[in-house]
Amino acid sequence: MKKLAIIGAQWGDEGKGKIVNYFSGDYDYIIRFSGGANAGHTIYYNGKKFVNHLLPSISPGTDSKGVLSKGMALDLGQVIKELETMEADFAGISSRFCIDEEAFLVLPYHKEEDAILETLRKNPIGTTKKGMGPSFADKVSRENIRVCDLYDEEALAERLDTIIHLKSAIYGERLAIDAKAVQDEIVGQFKKLREMGVQFTSAAALHEELESKKVLFEGAQGIMLDVDSGTYPYVTSSQTTAHGAFTMDMTLTDEDTVMGVVKAYTTRVGEGEFPTELPEEEGAVLRELGGEFGATTGRNRRVGWLDLPQLRYAIRKSKVNALVITKGDVLSHYDEIKVCVAYELNGKEVPMPFIANDFQHAKPIYKTLPGWSDAFDLNFLKYMTFIEKELGVDVQYVSYGPKTEEMLSKKDYILEVHA
Ligand code: IMP
Ligand code: MG
Repeated sequence: MKKLAIIGAQWGDEGKGKIVNYFSGDYDYIIRFSGGANAGHTIYYNGKKFVNHLLPSISPGTDSKGVLSKGMALDLGQVIKELETMEADFAGISSRFCIDEEAFLVLPYHKEEDAILETLRKNPIGTTKKGMGPSFADKVSRENIRVCDLYDEEALAERLDTIIHLKSAIYGERLAIDAKAVQDEIVGQFKKLREMGVQFTSAAALHEELESKKVLFEGAQGIMLDVDSGTYPYVTSSQTTAHGAFTMDMTLTDEDTVMGVVKAYTTRVGEGEFPTELPEEEGAVLRELGGEFGATTGRNRRVGWLDLPQLRYAIRKSKVNALVITKGDVLSHYDEIKVCVAYELNGKEVPMPFIANDFQHAKPIYKTLPGWSDAFDLNFLKYMTFIEKELGVDVQYVSYGPKTEEMLSKKDYILEVHA
């Protein structure tokens, strides 16, 4: 069965939540495969706004299931909070979520560590303080707990003791951890989730079932925040490209669709390179127009023009073979629109950098295009056609407002423009 992955093609906040929401009704399984509560997916169900951080964006009106795969770092308390909010409107929906027993946890002290490290850093990253860095760091340094460790409380106590012994030696008085309190908290959360009807499973257990079902991979963050491919060290701590399908023992082939979600301009939250960033005064105007404030932290997003070299790079890194353009309506305010078409790097003009470090030194070369009066103005269609030609990937859908129904396939969109 053909699979669909929906991935942010910039630095996150491209509007993925809404795009997943648009398609999710047609899929049996919606799988989140990376990140954790650092993500913020704003979605509308029956016209009501929900901001989920961990739950996959399943469609309540169907019987589709949501999987939280082992590529994620899970704060179980946050999972419970989101489920409770959903339950108030959609009773029984918890039983449609499956948690991979091999997923690592975000423990209460990981969030504290995240905050401590940010204050200790000479150059803070501007993290969301949701414990991502410390949880994933503990995973690779072999000091974390997985969901499957919660079944055996005796072994868990021993394991926590070993881990906390090391943490205390490292942090000293900076971080006081009560092992018993941690144990009680996570065991309690695990029990509560089971009572709520959440299913606990694994990639291996689901494998056969998934082979015959329609599967949608829901990305979090954006390709430029990927720990391996993004603008390191100003990245998140997990893989954000479509290759994260491997966390379900699956691979995506050319038959499948890797849909890159592209905002008609660029935004970034937190620190790090951003070649097309607008100076603060100009940026403030676009920030207001686009409502560019973080869904998770409420922080001001940095804003800038569309960056084609960045997108070429992202398309390569995640094998993107279809595009969705969002928020073109926001730019209606402008007489002229700038697009970065190439970079000047070491005195040479290049279409895209080969390694992420080059973004630090990239000087954008702009082309100016005429603006549009609304999202159905011919000039906006021309803007998208220009992007398609430059990137060599088709725009398949156009999103022109926050509501799920404010979206058309490119073909239907063209008919509207000429109507
Ligand atoms: P962390 O993921 O909290 O460690 O944050 C690392 C960097 O990724 C920071 O610059 C965050 O602002 C950014 N980041 C993390 N999650 C998101 C997201 O969902 N959207 C946009 N930026 C994000
Ligand atoms: Mg977001």
